[in-house]
Amino acid sequence: MARLKLGVLISGRGSNLQALIDACAAPAYPAEIALVISNETAAAGLARAARAGIPSRIIAHRDHAGRAEFEQALDAALRDAGVELVCLAGFMRVLGPDFVARWRDRLINIHPSLLPAFPGLDTHRRALEAGATVAGCTVHFVRAKVDAGPIIRQAEVQVRAGDTEHDLAARVLEAEHRLYPEAVRLIAEGRIHVVNEKVASRD
Ligand code: GRF
Repeated sequence: MARLKLGVLISGRGSNLQALIDACAAPAYPAEIALVISNETAAAGLARAARAGIPSRIIAHRDHAGRAEFEQALDAALRDAGVELVCLAGFMRVLGPDFVARWRDRLINIHPSLLPAFPGLDTHRRALEAGATVAGCTVHFVRAKVDAGPIIRQAEVQVRAGDTEHDLAARVLEAEHRLYPEAVRLIAEGRIHVVNEKVASRD
């Protein structure tokens, strides 16, 4: 069976990109990374793509006249590479409604909280401040509203007494690295679909 072609969009460290690279290295995994795009020249994740022999491109938002032009460049690069599913992995630009509509149900994101709790930034600090006893991460389809959209999979992580933001972030990140490849697998195997803005399982 043909493997689903992924485009991974990053802005920085790229540890979730690495988790996807590692998953795709298994011959039985049903997806492969066709292209990595970074909007930041200095993103450490670019070296991860290079080490794995995966094509990458820098498409810097700063080099474009506006969001529409930037997103057209992203879209063109993804299409040229034959990408079928776009995975946001620490991509720090909000994508506009046109791009999101064009890639509807073929565009996913990983977020370091149990959505709908704590959308946006500083999720771990906010979870600790709120006294949450459970934290975690979410993979979801992207909609125009940031950190909203049908939830594909979530993983819970216990908050421990005395946790710092750093401790919690590290524990959630480990869960992210397991969850993202699992969610991509479900999509690649055609096992989930969106019904009335919720994810339903086909089996
Ligand atoms: C992750 O915590 C992810 O959930 C969030 O941004 C961070 C990216 O980390 N969207 P990395 O670049 O994948 O290491």
